[in-house]
Amino acid sequence: MEKSPLFTPITIGKKEATNRLVINAMECCDSDELGNPSPRTYRRYARLFEGGAGVIFLEAITVSYESRARLNQLSIMPHNAKALEKFVAEMKRVNPKPLFIFQLTHAGELSNPEFSRRVCVKPLPGLGGDLLSEEDVDAIIDQFVLGARIAYDAGADGVDVKLCHGYLGTQILRPYNDRPWKYGGPWERRRQFAFEIYERIRKAIPDPNFLLGSKVTMWEGIPGGQGCAGPDTAIMDLSEPLDLLRGLKERGADFILVSAGNPSLTIALAHPDKRIPDYAYLHHYFQKEARKVLAPEVVTMGSAYSIFRDGNNNFLGVEREKSSLLYWGNKNIEDGVVDMIAIGRQSLADPFLPKKLLKGKPEEVRWCTLCDACMELLIRQQPTGCVVYEKEYAEILRETRKKYGVLKFKHT
Ligand SMILES: Cc1cc2nc3c(=O)[nH]c(=O)nc-3n(C[C@H](O)[C@H](O)[C@H](O)COP(=O)(O)O)c2cc1C
Ligand code: SF4
Repeated sequence: MEKSPLFTPITIGKKEATNRLVINAMECCDSDELGNPSPRTYRRYARLFEGGAGVIFLEAITVSYESRARLNQLSIMPHNAKALEKFVAEMKRVNPKPLFIFQLTHAGELSNPEFSRRVCVKPLPGLGGDLLSEEDVDAIIDQFVLGARIAYDAGADGVDVKLCHGYLGTQILRPYNDRPWKYGGPWERRRQFAFEIYERIRKAIPDPNFLLGSKVTMWEGIPGGQGCAGPDTAIMDLSEPLDLLRGLKERGADFILVSAGNPSLTIALAHPDKRIPDYAYLHHYFQKEARKVLAPEVVTMGSAYSIFRDGNNNFLGVEREKSSLLYWGNKNIEDGVVDMIAIGRQSLADPFLPKKLLKGKPEEVRWCTLCDACMELLIRQQPTGCVVYEKEYAEILRETRKKYGVLKFKHT
């Protein structure tokens, strides 16, 4: 097992990850009222650090308290600096090996109007919000740069400027953003937000050891969405996302985490589930196309691997032993499709998965059932974790359903 591609080290920028397993960013709504890590946050990440993945992403941490998606969302502003420093030190004490990367975000039109200001680049049916001005976006760029500085001072190994899943980074990149303004219309203007953040972060933190990258949606799957051929078509056209990756590489990206979809609008594409598992194969295609542009300088990480489990899944036309997470992880790395694989929901179901696989004990892994009950907790703004394997979260779900009823996802 130790010799399998998943367990070989890899260089990212000037740092080394000890294996190819990545813990995807997983927001869990358990910060304290100032946006600092709470005892629950400490417990979650301590387990992940013990689990021994090569890279661990800190969930979406908001650069703006004014506009955010979750009430108990981690935040990264000057008042959080000390708490974040303490948090990183504790995680590095638990296990100094994993690289710890903070995912910086601004929710834009996904900001929750119940407790924050919903803002948008152009109102999208069903979402909308106050229209952002050029000055507003200039100020948000400042907030990203400040967030990166705080992450660096706190001891993080790097930052992920979030450009995926329908949050502000995506909203600006979309062809749908055809408003004639500094950050919209032609592609050269829409990509400017991401490019400027990269240039300014590299300038503000001239330490080449500090990793910079992004999680990127390659195709959002809505008309005018990221990776679509125009503002009013859903036809996939990867030329803009691939040009984006080229530009991020030129501006010093060390890694790109390839994703797809938008959990608020096209959830099965972002998080392939038991009903439509096959979207996971589309992720393989996106990973391969991205890696063609990025390799060898920039490390390509792939998403949406939880669905494969131990091969006991809903994929048809394939033998079980050729359908597991271990199989596809090793094969895709070996075949040059991707350099590392990220796990999202599976990391909530079993934070110790890397350790168990490394020991050659896949039968000990608590495999995620893809029930998406953790997602229900997140949408209900509750402390989030695995409802199937952890009593505490099962109890939170029970109470939540008593209060709000069972959440029906569009695809269920
Ligand atoms: C509860 C929950 C929280 C999530 N939080 C984030 C997040 O903070 N940032 C992000 O980029 N993606 C987030 N995601 C998406 C995952 O990181 C990942 O892209 C997705 O679940 C697909 O991977 P998987 O099939 O391994 O679960 C979240 C998903 C879930 C279910
Ligand atoms: S609640 Fe369901 S989907 Fe979420 S981690 Fe647990 S088993 Fe997986």
